Amino acid sequence: MIQKTFPGPSSPWWWQTYSLIRDPDYTNKCLQKYGEPFYIMLEPKTPFLFFSHPKAAREVFTAHYNDVFAGPVSESLQPLLGRESLLLIDGDKHLKMRRFMTPAFTGNAMHSYGSVIRDTTLRNIESWRENSHVVIQEAMQDISLEVILQAVFGLKEGERFQKYKQVLVDYISVFNGKNAIFLFSTAFQKEIFSTWRKYLKMVKMVDELIYGEIELRKKKPNQQDIFSRLLTIRDESGNGLSEVTLRDQLLTLLLAGHETTASALAWAFDWIHRNPIVLETLCRELQPFSANFDIESIAKLPYLDAVCRETLRLHPIVSDVGRLLQRPMSIMGHEIPAKTNVIISISLMHRRPDLYPEPHLFDPQRFIEREYSSYEYIPFGGGARRCLGIHFAFYEMKIVLAYILLHFQLKLYSNKPVSPVRRGVTFLPSGGVPMVVEKKLAD
Ligand code: HEM
Repeated sequence: MIQKTFPGPSSPWWWQTYSLIRDPDYTNKCLQKYGEPFYIMLEPKTPFLFFSHPKAAREVFTAHYNDVFAGPVSESLQPLLGRESLLLIDGDKHLKMRRFMTPAFTGNAMHSYGSVIRDTTLRNIESWRENSHVVIQEAMQDISLEVILQAVFGLKEGERFQKYKQVLVDYISVFNGKNAIFLFSTAFQKEIFSTWRKYLKMVKMVDELIYGEIELRKKKPNQQDIFSRLLTIRDESGNGLSEVTLRDQLLTLLLAGHETTASALAWAFDWIHRNPIVLETLCRELQPFSANFDIESIAKLPYLDAVCRETLRLHPIVSDVGRLLQRPMSIMGHEIPAKTNVIISISLMHRRPDLYPEPHLFDPQRFIEREYSSYEYIPFGGGARRCLGIHFAFYEMKIVLAYILLHFQLKLYSNKPVSPVRRGVTFLPSGGVPMVVEKKLAD
């Protein structure tokens, strides 16, 4: 019995869930009060045990994939992504699907996305004029949504492309702010609530769009995008993916692949322009490159890489990853029974002073001076379920940042600190980081 063995808040479960959703510092407050590990209740009688030590991350991430399932943390995304989503399936089924999907995120495939990211960025910043105002989160959202629509569906412009943009943005905004509670607790997923009714209406629209796309694609196969790769998948008996599986993987990639990267970029712009030394160092590193840079060389720049890493350290976007234990496990010397929900808290680990001295400072230099292991720096989770889009996300962050910094001198509209606000399971900068375009540097 987790509640008898470990400490945690004594308030009612719904208040703990609400606090977790509304207060980005709630888990830190629990850590300070109870020490590690502590539990938080997210459903009646369902404690989630929080760890933030690299040793715990190593023990959980290296466990056999049949011993640690995705569990309720990912399951809470089922309404958004569908039951067959890679994020929700487990065991051999997960391993098999992941093997099918991995080639779309490595090697040559990755290189082909480079020019998509560059061209999309260019198209989107064309309209920026000196002294104009830009809300960076929105601008990054437009870029990342266009990039992912092109990478997944080969869609660049036109009516279908516009329809996708509108429907997907509306779809994820159903669970903004306090409405995230509908994702976190199945107790609220009922038609008596207007938010849930709105969500069900949106699902219909998303389904019409994606199933329509599947029909269309059957008549027009063999395009150069992720969708086409998924259509070529065959099991041992020669069967392709079912329409439901296809729909869920496509939706997973569209949703997992755009807002996360957009928010990471918005945080990066904010921190870079709050720290003149960081901005100067980064611009000095970019100086030898013209506005038509070689993408591969940019992707290898060490300080740009460190800036992206530091952004995701301070703002991991997804604050925790969860696993449901399928057998008893020893984690940091504690005997944890089977069926326990274990959380590895990314945000708590990334602010450990023993790993990251002065953790609240934005200091990319720490990633130049020290290499962190994949159990100490975990913005993309870890083990058999580590984010499939890790290279995609870093690639996109670097190209977009470099391109914009080479083309424009920007300034924050206000120096007031921004705080994280919740959108579904991610945290975005409040206000969206408004900036002023001070100067155009290149065409
Ligand atoms: C800054 C951007 C991103 C962040 C911070 C991020 C973070 C994460 C995290 C924390 C997980 C869960 C890992 C775990 O449970 O151990 C995850 C899973 C996943 N992400 Fe990302 N992600 C990002 C971008 C992307 C992109 C660009 C794509 C695809 C284009 C993507 C696709 C996925 C998929 C498919 C999974 C499920 C993997 C599995 O269960 O096997 N993500 N991501």
